Amino acid sequence: MRTLSPEPGEVDLAERYAYPAGATWVRANMVASLDGAAQRDERSGGLGNAADRRLFLLLRGLADVVVVGAGTVRAEGYGPVRPSAGWGGVREGRPPVPPIAIVSRTLDLDFDAPIFTAAEVPTIVLAPAAADPVRLKAARERADVIVAGHDSLDFTAAVGELAARGHRRLLCEGGPGVLAEVVAAGLLDELCLTLSPMLLAGNPARILNGPPAPVPPEMTLAHALQDEEFLFLRYTLNR
Ligand SMILES: NC(=O)c1ccc[n+]([C@@H]2O[C@H](COP(=O)([O-])OP(=O)(O)OC[C@H]3O[C@@H](n4cnc5c(N)ncnc54)[C@H](OP(=O)(O)O)[C@@H]3O)[C@@H](O)[C@H]2O)c1
Repeated sequence: MRTLSPEPGEVDLAERYAYPAGATWVRANMVASLDGAAQRDERSGGLGNAADRRLFLLLRGLADVVVVGAGTVRAEGYGPVRPSAGWGGVREGRPPVPPIAIVSRTLDLDFDAPIFTAAEVPTIVLAPAAADPVRLKAARERADVIVAGHDSLDFTAAVGELAARGHRRLLCEGGPGVLAEVVAAGLLDELCLTLSPMLLAGNPARILNGPPAPVPPEMTLAHALQDEEFLFLRYTLNR
C-alpha cells in the first residue's frame, strides 16, 4: 500500500479525460456517497459539488453522444445539452453540442419538452422494436430514433449504430438501471466515479442496479483527483 500524495497545482482536465483515439469508447460518469448511494432525495444532484458539476459538463463536451436512461430523464427533468463556458476548443470540428440519446422501452417521454423541441442537435431515442407503435411514431416526429433489439433494447447493436453515425466517443450518464445493462453487455470501457463525502444510509440505488454480474469486470485505476473532500476516480476496464 502507498499514499496517493497530492501533486501540487491544477491538472488539465481536458487532457486527463481525453478519449483514446480511434476505437469506439464507452465512458460512464457517476457520483456516489461514501456508503455507495447513487441517489439523494431521488436525484443525484445533491451528491456533487462545484468541481463535480464542472467535470460533468466537461465530459459532455468531450463526448460525441450522451446516453441516458429514461428513468433519469424523468427524475431529473433532463433538458438538451447546452454549450458550456469551460469547453474551450474541445468541440472543434464537431457539432456545437453532443446529442442526448435516451434509452426507453415504454417511450413514456414528454415529446413536447425542451429536450426534444429545443435541442441544438436532434435528440436520439434508443428503443426496442416492440415499443408501442403510436409512441414510436410520436418519437420519430421529434427525435432521431434508433431501434435495436425486439422486447428489450439490444445495447450492443445500439452502440454499434451510434458509432456508425460517427458517435464513437460515448458518455453514459446512467442511471443505475441502464449502467447495469451496459456493463452486463460488456460494453463499458471506463468509469468516472465521483466519491462524495457523505453517509446517507436508507435504500438508495447504487451506481449499478441490475442482476449480479456473472463475471465481475476488473478495472485499473487510471487516476485519482481531489477537490475539497471529493475524490474523482477514473477506472478503465481490463480487456
Ligand atoms: N449517481 C449518479 O451518478 C446518477 C446518475 C444518473 C441517475 N441517477 C439517479 O438514478 C435514478 C434513475 O435511475 P434508474 O435506474 O431508475 O433509471 P435509468 O437507468 O436512468 O433508466 C431506466 C429506464 O431506461 C429504460 N431501459 C433500461 N433498460 C432498457 C432496455 N434494455 N430496453 C429498453 N429500455 C430500457 C427504461 O425506460 P422506460 O421506463 O421508459 O421504458 C427504464 O425504466 C434517479 O434517481 C437519478 O437521479 C444517479
